[in-house]
Amino acid sequence: MSTVIVHVVTIGEILLWAKEKLDQSRIAGGRRDARLLLANALDVGPEYIVAHPEASVTREQADLFIRYVERRCRHEPVSRILGRREFWSLPFRISPATLDPRPDSEALIESVLKDYPDRGASLTILDLGTGSGCLLLTLLKEYPCAFGVGVDISFEALSTARENASDLQVTDRAFFTQGCWGEGFKGSFDLVISNPPYIPDAGIGALDPEVRLYDPLRALKGGEEGVECYRILASQFRAFIHDHARIYLEIGQGQEKTVEKIMHNAGYLCVAWHRDLAGIKRCGVFTTHQFLDGS
Ligand SMILES: C[S@@+](CC[C@H](N)C(=O)[O-])C[C@H]1O[C@@H](n2cnc3c(N)ncnc32)[C@H](O)[C@@H]1O
Repeated sequence: MSTVIVHVVTIGEILLWAKEKLDQSRIAGGRRDARLLLANALDVGPEYIVAHPEASVTREQADLFIRYVERRCRHEPVSRILGRREFWSLPFRISPATLDPRPDSEALIESVLKDYPDRGASLTILDLGTGSGCLLLTLLKEYPCAFGVGVDISFEALSTARENASDLQVTDRAFFTQGCWGEGFKGSFDLVISNPPYIPDAGIGALDPEVRLYDPLRALKGGEEGVECYRILASQFRAFIHDHARIYLEIGQGQEKTVEKIMHNAGYLCVAWHRDLAGIKRCGVFTTHQFLDGS
């Protein structure tokens, strides 16, 4: 009778292998990513991975983990591999059709919370370019009596946004519709939020591969100067806001003067800029001139 010796791989061993592979592919933060991916392959929390380096990994778990690591070596972000991203401490599904939500965009949520301290307010919110729905759905969670509409040109992105609304149990207050920004929209919303694509076309090639290869191009490309979408939006707002409404726009680094000018020319005044965690002006708050004049 012959004896078959099967080498059982441990968490510590396979993590070491992954770290080397990720280092070879010049992936920064390889150790952290490997832990996250292994925790997912094993269906345990990351703390288990740290606490049990001697625990064994099954063949199926190892195969799944190896596939994850190979994808990460091709610069696919961990969030894309796992299909989810945390935003404002809430879980969001993401898909190839949606932008991977960025922590910078939380500046927009903070701005709204500051301006509308009454969490019981029955606000009506319009989110133009909703993607995964992260901005709109986060606000609907923060304001349990609010109602919102999310618009996106991508049908696939809207499916993901609807799934997120269902996961977060706000389907009765979140409505999603396909459209080109606010074209043809009529209404009297209290606030409009938007994080439009704002990367100048010529800058796309210089983005990190994690962004350039995996975020949808239509979520990034902002035209020649990066501000094309703000021009379109500025020409549309009037049709779907009331005089006391506020508009919250996320912008790219250094775009504040240009966006302020575009909005001013369309009849809106900037009342505040909010910075992201890096101290960059990220969210502009605009209102109509009449409101400030008191008329
Ligand atoms: C920068 S992403 C923002 C996504 C999401 N709001 C977020 O903050 O993560 C811009 C979004 O605008 C959408 N978009 C691009 N062009 C559009 C258009 N003409 N009309 C409506 N949405 C558009 C993209 O599909 C993408 O979902």
